[in-house]
Amino acid sequence: MAGRRVFGGINCEGGMLLARRFGVWKERRDGTCFVQKCGLPTNLLPNRSHGFYQSSGKRNTWKSKGSNIVTFAGAGAMGLLGMAGSAYADEAEHGLAAPSYPWANDGWFASYDHAAIRRGHQVYKEVCAACHAMSLIAYRDLIGVAYTELEVKALAAEIEVEDGPNDDGEMFGRPGKPADHLQPPYANEQAARSANGGAYPPDLSLICKARHNGPNYVFALLTGYRDAPAGISVRQGLYYNPYFPGGAIAMPRVINDGGVEFEDGTPATSSQMAKDVTHYLAWAAEPEHDERKLIGAKWICGALLCLYAMGYYKRWKWGPLKSRRIIWDVVN
Ligand code: HEC
Repeated sequence: MAGRRVFGGINCEGGMLLARRFGVWKERRDGTCFVQKCGLPTNLLPNRSHGFYQSSGKRNTWKSKGSNIVTFAGAGAMGLLGMAGSAYADEAEHGLAAPSYPWANDGWFASYDHAAIRRGHQVYKEVCAACHAMSLIAYRDLIGVAYTELEVKALAAEIEVEDGPNDDGEMFGRPGKPADHLQPPYANEQAARSANGGAYPPDLSLICKARHNGPNYVFALLTGYRDAPAGISVRQGLYYNPYFPGGAIAMPRVINDGGVEFEDGTPATSSQMAKDVTHYLAWAAEPEHDERKLIGAKWICGALLCLYAMGYYKRWKWGPLKSRRIIWDVVN
């Protein structure tokens, strides 16, 4: 996350996305890129974005492609001036676009960071579970992912589960077992709403799938709290967060430096906790991820071997035909 610049509360990568959406941000094959000066406020654009900007390389600069670029620039500027207003509306309605963060599982062959899932589960348990359920996850799902079987048994035994009825027809409480699901903090939606000023804290089991750009959004949301800018007033009981659609969320800032104590000694900064809990939520939404990639890699290797065998077989079959030489011996 180093190197990202934030201007007045608006992350410039969000601006980059806006610029890209309206077709004014361009990247060439040689890695140079430019952003057309446009009607968007400069704090929505990446740094060095005033006018054309080329980062490196002599070939393919905009000057050498002068006429195309001038045509594009004219059309782009006209279009953008008209659309700058809708960019604001879009942002207020859908929330600021979340930047892309470098997740451990990005890439074809990358798996989850399981130490992070373990820390993330700790953050969920100690912070988020006070308001959010994760009812699709059972304790046993964590075996081999973040905890050993013995650890999971001990974790599950900490909760009390209502079971029954017994032979007398009565319900009874018993210590949790690995097959039990994580317990919701509230008995029902009404209880959850009444405790949270009318807002419903959603079940987080699938939140990374249920939101556009899931993990990036959740991380940006958790770390995106700031003072409301001048001129914007937020109703009592709501908190300003530019990444939340509408900008005002009923969830307070819950991730603060030192909020938990990680058993592996990782410093519990707010961004570390937000990253770990997001990674845990990404796993919860897609627990098959690691296995899916592993199987995919095996299939690709197998398919490559088949491709090689096919090529060999084809040449073997066609070799005599393609390399033959026909000599017509004309006999008078
Ligand atoms: C004090 C209670 C509380 C705690 C603790 C809490 N949340 Fe929330 N959360 C809420 C409420 C209330 C909402 C609904 C907000 C709204 O609709 O305005 C919410 C909404 C969310 C959303 C959904 C936002 C959306 O796009 O709809 C996410 C994601 C989320 N919380 C993640 C977390 C995570 C992760 C944690 C733990 C680090 C956490 N929350 C801790 C109360 C809480």
